Amino acid sequence: MTQQASKQRPFVWGAATSAYQIEGAAHEDGRGASIWDSFCRVPGAIVDASNGDVACDHCHRLDGDLRLIADLGLQAYRFSVSWSRVQPSGRGAVNPLGLDFYERLVDGLLRRGIKPYLTLYHWDLPQALQERGGWNERDTALRFADYAEIVARRLGDRVVSVATHNEPWVVSVLGHERGLFAPGIQDRKIAMQVSHNLLLSHGLALQALRALDTQAELGIVLNQAPTYPATERAEDVAKARIDDGLLVRWYMDPLLHGRYPADVLAHLGADVPNVRGGDLDIICQPIDFIGLNYYTRNFASAGSRKPEPGPLGVTDMGWEVYPDGLTELLLRLNRDYTLPPVYITENGAAYRDQVEAGRVHDTERTDYIRRHIDAVGRAMAQGVDVRGFFVWSLFDNFEWSLGYTRRFGIVHVDYATQRRIVKDSGRWYRDFIGGIAPSPSGRGLG
Ligand code: FCB
Repeated sequence: MTQQASKQRPFVWGAATSAYQIEGAAHEDGRGASIWDSFCRVPGAIVDASNGDVACDHCHRLDGDLRLIADLGLQAYRFSVSWSRVQPSGRGAVNPLGLDFYERLVDGLLRRGIKPYLTLYHWDLPQALQERGGWNERDTALRFADYAEIVARRLGDRVVSVATHNEPWVVSVLGHERGLFAPGIQDRKIAMQVSHNLLLSHGLALQALRALDTQAELGIVLNQAPTYPATERAEDVAKARIDDGLLVRWYMDPLLHGRYPADVLAHLGADVPNVRGGDLDIICQPIDFIGLNYYTRNFASAGSRKPEPGPLGVTDMGWEVYPDGLTELLLRLNRDYTLPPVYITENGAAYRDQVEAGRVHDTERTDYIRRHIDAVGRAMAQGVDVRGFFVWSLFDNFEWSLGYTRRFGIVHVDYATQRRIVKDSGRWYRDFIGGIAPSPSGRGLG
């Protein structure tokens, strides 16, 4: 796909970040603690024992970072709002300095002709709410709707898009079942209740936002991937079906069909969440878009057999490079659901970058991004309504429990000096957006 491919339909090229991963200023201007501040203090939780206290120091460097975003020619910028910066305890008092910061960001983007795509929740629950039970408590969903309203009252007239959640599967499974991410709980029953409360909070927030009559497109961002059985053995095929159910259908079915998948409910047994009458109607409301984050495909095996990665190898995350999985995912979702317009809200890769004479020659990352853009183009050619593509990430940043050991940026960050260097991938992306650089398949799709 070339940049011109989508002339007929509105299509935006952007890059994404999230609050805790870049902002820093963690203890300033009235920001309350979040569960990631706490989790980072747990010995062993973060591989390099780091945290987001400084990160990319984005809060203090907003003006320079806005110039950088503009210089990259990005048409859209996806960022998240830190709930505890805006509402330090997650309920009650609002911190005006927090809202001021996001207003400066949004207005700075608009002044430069860049569309703001706002995400309300990218994993950083106010710690005060965690102490009241966090996402395992239904009340947190109500608090989230209040928070959504607070943000929208200030910014709803200017942002182009509001996503309620980023990747609820990660919050549920990595945060509450496997304990790898904040808040570090290991309990599947809690994890499933959390997933339901997150979806409920999405629906309640949508209601609050629609009541305000915001002009922004409203939706949600899911991590999705095709899951293949590791072998053709019946037990692997069955495992793949359940894994797909837990990752894809557990979210897509309630959001778009108003029900949880029956086979997954049966599989969960006593761990099924408590769902009240009317909840699914709240969850299954019309949305203006769905955001998909795609990095790799999954394999499922009843044992521990995992096939060797394909010819494109793996990234520094150990994730197989498999662009065809994105085409397949889009075609499958388009077949199984009546999809609203789709955005690829995250796609990108970690590689071990070297700075050489002030440049970063990250050809593998450029190749990764180009191949995935082409994969999106192939799905669009077969009828999937994709409206935008956001590279993860604008900056190298705090990669959760992997700390600063993985670099996803199209802009390199030297954490000691906070110097930013646009990598070759960023230069390529700028030229691509500007219509100069071709995509690998040449002409692209009209
Ligand atoms: C996604 C997250 C994002 C980043 C990338 C690598 O799951 O949304 O914050 O960690 O993975």
